Amino acid sequence: MPDNHERLVSLLRPGSASAEASEGFLDLLGEIPQAGPPTGLAQRLMRTSAVPMIYEHYWRPTLGRVAKGLTGPSMEDEVRIALEALALRPGQVALDVACGTGRFTRAFGEAVGPDGLSIGLDGSVTMLEKALAAPSPPSVTYLRADAVDLPLADSTVDAVCCFAALHMFADPNAALDSFARVLKPGGSLVLLTSARHSDQPLRLADTVLGRVSGQRMFDRGEITMKLFRRGFDRVNERYSGVTQIVTGELPVNIRP
Ligand SMILES: C[S@@+](CC[C@H](N)C(=O)[O-])C[C@H]1O[C@@H](n2cnc3c(N)ncnc32)[C@H](O)[C@@H]1O
Repeated sequence: MPDNHERLVSLLRPGSASAEASEGFLDLLGEIPQAGPPTGLAQRLMRTSAVPMIYEHYWRPTLGRVAKGLTGPSMEDEVRIALEALALRPGQVALDVACGTGRFTRAFGEAVGPDGLSIGLDGSVTMLEKALAAPSPPSVTYLRADAVDLPLADSTVDAVCCFAALHMFADPNAALDSFARVLKPGGSLVLLTSARHSDQPLRLADTVLGRVSGQRMFDRGEITMKLFRRGFDRVNERYSGVTQIVTGELPVNIRP
């Protein structure tokens, strides 16, 4: 089994391979504190020392429940939904974009087995340090880079997951372009992001909440449309509270 770091470097775009391996993860940002242009409070909190400490067990489940509503999926359900959508097989390469503390990255690592690779990508050093501290399957590796402009070469991964982060990025459209670019033909995508209510006054409240926290509120149907425009098919969406989970696949014949 090749070393995970070596394997990861072999998947990077030419020119990125001079990346430094620091503290157990490959770091393409070095001294730059923020991946891409800053977008506000929510993104800033992810770079602190305090939030990553409580993120996985308290922060994410609690805020996730508020956003998804009482009947929305639990954290365990989210992991199951992501695994079902990506249908990972042993030996495949999974990319967990904005992986945070690596809850999903580790689950994908189990699914791809020791011959596969599960890459957790995040811009926050403190999140990645916390991810590294958790016991992980041998296929897991971490990369510090900007999610909006993925450093991987074209058609290199079988599956992309991006949960609870697209609405935080400075340019979500560029991020979606990147996701489609790095996926192999036939590859799968699963996203969990914001979904603004359609009717007032809830719609206005959602908009204000988004502005204050620095998070974009996507309209219902907006993400599915963006995926269709990028060539995805089998696109599906489901809504819970102010969140949506959207899945899609690139056709096997999408590129010559
Ligand atoms: C709310 S957490 C989501 C973590 C995990 N995916 C989950 O569902 O629990 C958002 C993550 O996005 C990361 N992030 C925000 N903007 C980013 C960017 N431009 N590039 C890389 N990571 C980014 C933050 O550091 C943070 O770890």
